[in-house]
Amino acid sequence: MSNNPTHKKEWQDLEKLSKTPLNLNDLFAKNPSRFSEFSISLEGLFLDYSKQKITQPILQNLIDLAKASDVEEKRDAMFAGGIINHTEQRAVLHTALRVPKDSIIEVDRKNIVPEIQETLSRIEKLSNTLRTQKYLGATGKVITDVVSIGIGGSDLGPRMVYEALNNDKQPIALHFVSNIDADDIEKTLQRCNPETTLFIVISKSFGTQETLTNALTARAWVQNFIGKNKDISNHFIAVSANINAAQKFGIKTDNIYPLWDWVNGRFSLWSAVGLPIAIGLGFDEFSSLLDGARAMDIHFQTASLKKNMPVLMAMIGIWNRNFLHSANLAVLPYSQNLSLFPSYLQQLDMESNGKSVDNAGQEIKDYMTAPVLFGEAGTNGQHSFYQLLHQGSETIPCDFIGVIEPNHTHKNHHDMLLGHLLAQGQAMMKGKASIQNAHKNFTGNKPCTTILLDKLDAYHLGMLIALYEHKIMVQGVIWNINSFDQFGVELGKEMAANIESHNFDNLDPSTKALYSLIHKQQK
Ligand code: F6P
Repeated sequence: MSNNPTHKKEWQDLEKLSKTPLNLNDLFAKNPSRFSEFSISLEGLFLDYSKQKITQPILQNLIDLAKASDVEEKRDAMFAGGIINHTEQRAVLHTALRVPKDSIIEVDRKNIVPEIQETLSRIEKLSNTLRTQKYLGATGKVITDVVSIGIGGSDLGPRMVYEALNNDKQPIALHFVSNIDADDIEKTLQRCNPETTLFIVISKSFGTQETLTNALTARAWVQNFIGKNKDISNHFIAVSANINAAQKFGIKTDNIYPLWDWVNGRFSLWSAVGLPIAIGLGFDEFSSLLDGARAMDIHFQTASLKKNMPVLMAMIGIWNRNFLHSANLAVLPYSQNLSLFPSYLQQLDMESNGKSVDNAGQEIKDYMTAPVLFGEAGTNGQHSFYQLLHQGSETIPCDFIGVIEPNHTHKNHHDMLLGHLLAQGQAMMKGKASIQNAHKNFTGNKPCTTILLDKLDAYHLGMLIALYEHKIMVQGVIWNINSFDQFGVELGKEMAANIESHNFDNLDPSTKALYSLIHKQQK
């Protein structure tokens, strides 16, 4: 049997079903129990997919496609430590980072859980020491500021979680630096004091140019202030899978927190990459985040496919992308605290499934893979790109995310915020006909999913992130691609290295001319 999904009977049946246009308003008119039929909840996370253009037969066919694509077998292989990242010969075990202490998960016949637990204990100890003002810098002063230096998967996760959950005054001021543009680190250093600042250099490879350049700048800043030959090792901590490189950089072995090759960067916030979360918010919050993700893992592993949230979200995404031909997905959190969630998801989704070569190394020609994911916190997005969502020439499915119980006491604000969330989903679905003025016509019939969290706390955030992680994994299985490598980011790095080392042999005329322009101006 071919692994090309379009050769599967289930795919072809879905293609036939997609030929009949559906109108969401009619579907609701015909079925009074549509909302309860097409929604599901789990421990304070509610998923409403009744405003998606599906019917029970379509849903059943989507589930059949998931079954025929061996989603269950591949899910189980992932949780068990199978080498599912076959292009890099690696297991994919971010889920092991949130299992109970007494679990046994083997990689190369070695149980990895004790190492995970030991690292968690070190995270707990360090975060407690810092948060109780017991961590001292080179001159004996208490560390008050922590700067996390990392990029991509070594930055976006902890940054997003910290932004989402940081509602109280914290004992440590946490900062994040990622861009190689020195404006990033400059602005951060201006707010810190070298005597009282600790840097956490997070890099799985410990070879990422942006991170190492920023770390060198930070080190020079501390060393210049404290004194040339003074020991500043207390000001630097590393999180890396490349212990040698971190040591060579000058980080004390005791200050290095491990990562493992079975944790992919964009899935790594549950490891020591999440150290800034534990330092910034406290270890209990970090633990609770892991527990929430674990609850979603158990649901994903045990619920039947038809009642399985990540599977449902994945298959609805497949329906929209491959059968209704939507090229985009908008993720719209109605929560200022979740404002970084869309950019976090951009990496998670597009670095995972932005592929056009299948698992057998064949170019994918007859179906599409990941859509372009973008988004913005509501209501800000409403005053920006929603015009296109309502009246543009493309239909863009939306994920609306709302939080029922706010973290603040301004009930009036919150009622208005959630009113907007509900109104937007309704407006997209119902539209509004204007016969006299075409400019004021809203066609409606635009699909969306609504996710409601009881509360935006660490537990529910953990659940939400794991929901999207597993959705992405399932979609990768359907598209027959490896969601866990990212070779596509390498070519640009290579070419940048050539330009930096003045190797112009392969520069095209346009890039050469731009280079001259930049350098003429800089003289
Ligand atoms: O360039 C992309 C990438 O490789 C991501 O996959 C990764 O999360 C990021 O760079 C950072 O890599 P590292 O943690 O090795 O510095």
